Amino acid sequence: MPGDNSWDARDNTWKAEDKGLEPRPKGSGAAPFESDRHRMHSGRPWGCARAGLRRPRSVGLGPHAGRFMIYSSVIDMIGNTPMLDVSVLSPNPGVRILAKAEGANPAGSVKDRIAKKMIEEAEADGTLRPGQQIIEPSSGNTGIAMAMIAKLKGYPIKIVMPHNVSVERRQLLSVFGAEIILYEGPDGSNGAVREARRLAGEHPDWAFLYQYANEANPRAHYEGTGPEIYEEVPEISHFVAGLGTSGTLMGVGTYLKECNPDIKVMAVEPPSGELVEGLRSLEDGYIPPIYEKWGGQDLLDGKRIVRPRESIEWTRRLVDGCGFFCGISSGAAMAGAVKIASGIESGVIVFVAADGGWKYLSTGAWTDDIDEVARKAEKIIYF
Ligand SMILES: Cc1ncc(COP(=O)(O)O)c(C=O)c1O
Repeated sequence: MPGDNSWDARDNTWKAEDKGLEPRPKGSGAAPFESDRHRMHSGRPWGCARAGLRRPRSVGLGPHAGRFMIYSSVIDMIGNTPMLDVSVLSPNPGVRILAKAEGANPAGSVKDRIAKKMIEEAEADGTLRPGQQIIEPSSGNTGIAMAMIAKLKGYPIKIVMPHNVSVERRQLLSVFGAEIILYEGPDGSNGAVREARRLAGEHPDWAFLYQYANEANPRAHYEGTGPEIYEEVPEISHFVAGLGTSGTLMGVGTYLKECNPDIKVMAVEPPSGELVEGLRSLEDGYIPPIYEKWGGQDLLDGKRIVRPRESIEWTRRLVDGCGFFCGISSGAAMAGAVKIASGIESGVIVFVAADGGWKYLSTGAWTDDIDEVARKAEKIIYF
């Protein structure tokens, strides 16, 4: 272990000499190890040719060679998340229900995928320059994922968030060194979005990647989440996800329909006017630009309305029945999957469990009286 004086504050790494290695740039780009080179240039051993899916290869020669992977950057740990069979909770024995467990991503949610894609594409097209200030509105997961990557790559980042988000979100943003701008006004997430847009307008030198309109968002799912799901479960009949920016539904839905047009793509939404775990009701007025650009209206086969109490009930059942500890929007998506399962004869439903339960512990979602939690859910923005 190198001593403290070996820490290179300029690029947040141990000094290369101390590691006995050639220096490597920050982030995920460089691969000085022979084993990394092997991994990066070993072609496309696995996956759907359509999107060029690349599953990381294991490295090493020990007795477990072929089973484990050494990553050169936390960014490389994004994606290739596990799929959990939760069919024990299916109301219909003819219908399997599977959860894509996105909480396994390094910053803890499905948003790691889009943060990586948005930042890498902005770097490539020059929208984001070394050391440039980033600003983004987020009530949680996107901000946390962007802050993790920004810290690693040396970008200062400001996250504009509504004041009533759970305390764990603020703590995580602080861990990753983000500056939090709390939006105190009315209109929660939509207000924070307006505030971030206003600030970005006043500071044209800041990078504003704006997940609601950035096509790297659905593309991350078109090239990553979608191919992973189809590769793992080619017999999928229904895909279910919550709708926030709509990136997950648009990207995965488009990919799956290209593979098999019979696959149904279903959104889970709160009832209009109710603040369910932050899921967005399109009827509330704001239509994300990516939803329109990716033909949301034509792509979606339907939606299921899920209320706050149902989301919390199913979040609890996922723990009780499967030991699966996930966030409230995963409970909402599971509730939607269960409604669909009850209405069909047979099928295989895959839903997105967008994050783990950790960030919601302070809400008492698993421990407090359910009526009390459901009542609180109307005041707290969960993502
Ligand atoms: C926990 C959680 N679930 C679901 C979603 C919805 O995902 P998307 O923005 O891709 O529609 C989000 C993001 O807004 C989220 O943070």
